[in-house]
Amino acid sequence: MSDTSSNQMWGGRFAAGPDAIMEAINASIGYDQRMAAQDIAGSRAHAAMLAAQGIISDNDAQAIREGLLTVLSEIESGDFAFSTALEDIHMNVEARLKEIIGEPAGRLHTGRSRNDQVATDFRLWVRDQLDAAESGLLALIRALLAQAEAGADWVMPGFTHLQTAQPVTWGHHMMAYVEMFGRDLSRVRDARKRMNENPLGAAALAGTGFPLDREMTATDLGFDRPMANSLDAVSARDFAIEFLSVASISAMHLSRFAEELVIWSSAQFRFVTLSDRFSTGSSIMPQKKNPDAAELIRAKIGRIFGANVALMMVMKGLPLAYSKDMQEDKEQVFDAADNWMLALAAMEGMVKDMTANRAELEAAASSGFSTATDLADWLVRETGLPFRDAHHVTGALVALAEKKGCDLPDLSLKEMQAVHGNIDQSIYDVLGVHNSVASRMSYGGTAPTRVREQVARWQENLA
Ligand code: ARG
Repeated sequence: MSDTSSNQMWGGRFAAGPDAIMEAINASIGYDQRMAAQDIAGSRAHAAMLAAQGIISDNDAQAIREGLLTVLSEIESGDFAFSTALEDIHMNVEARLKEIIGEPAGRLHTGRSRNDQVATDFRLWVRDQLDAAESGLLALIRALLAQAEAGADWVMPGFTHLQTAQPVTWGHHMMAYVEMFGRDLSRVRDARKRMNENPLGAAALAGTGFPLDREMTATDLGFDRPMANSLDAVSARDFAIEFLSVASISAMHLSRFAEELVIWSSAQFRFVTLSDRFSTGSSIMPQKKNPDAAELIRAKIGRIFGANVALMMVMKGLPLAYSKDMQEDKEQVFDAADNWMLALAAMEGMVKDMTANRAELEAAASSGFSTATDLADWLVRETGLPFRDAHHVTGALVALAEKKGCDLPDLSLKEMQAVHGNIDQSIYDVLGVHNSVASRMSYGGTAPTRVREQVARWQENLA
């Protein structure tokens, strides 16, 4: 709420305090309090560096560093009274530090601005989220590998256009997602490497006349190096946008898989049974078991991608260096991070718990003329027909089976020979779905041997 006194942190030139509406639009403490631990870590590193450089006394630095730990424990235990008049986490922490340790608190902000302070806090926060995403992705990949290993030779229909195309193995389908989430993982690691530079010491925008040691604070905070340009250090938010981009791509992968789980768990498909722990019921239809977790994962891409677009829009017209627009970065990133982590954990839980219905998968794989390509390939191999002609002959056999209401292996040898005279008994060997998948031995193919090699490669990589 507004009061008539001017702001205690910057009010020197102000005769009156801000209007209540001004305070409401200006304050970020409602959400940036989530960066309290990062803010305090940054301030403790800054204070230690100021003392090491002889800019403040060792005693003052000691008082500041200990006082900040007290503030942190107050915040963590919920005993901290956040003030909207103090705008943000930076000023809330510093004001409380002043109450606890008195005069030395006023020396903490030497050679520093909230501009490099917030850039530092936010980088530290996003870095933690990249680490959390790495763990979440690894756990999901492990759950998928377990499914793939168990079902390396279970056959299921592979689809194109969601029409039965060729038989594939359950393990192969699971491993396709391992590859996708594996690329997400490498994007996370890559983004972390690029963003891990220290903005602290850039001050407001131009650097400072105080002899700061930016290498020291960088090392202290786990950054690889100080950022090389002070204007860039305070005004860059591409690290946050890259986080949102990586999150968006990963959420898109999660959403595609979620869509498959929704389809697969339906009564029409029955490819998988989701566990009770990751399903919900209907308040009116007693028989229902709904895949809500998958549906919500499918929906999360919307808000995550929305955050990505929102922050791009915030940043795209900003002249250098800092503008207050940039305060709008945090809520987007916080929300996207929360929902990405939740979606990763929910997907991991679903994958761990779900049961693939082998019999249903195999029955579905065997219907829909899924081995027609195998038949055409047999004609090429065994009778020397050009593939185009073999394709045509096979098409005639499919039409015959369709007319009779049966599958390809149900046609008699006589019926087949009526379509093409060189067909013999050995054709039946390739019409079975197990033979079909076993024959797909090309590198990256669905043959169980190939799938097991890929599972082993991933397990080795992760070990
Ligand atoms: N709460 C602000 C933010 O999140 C901190 C930086 C304020 N800097 C300033 N020059 N007013 O961006």
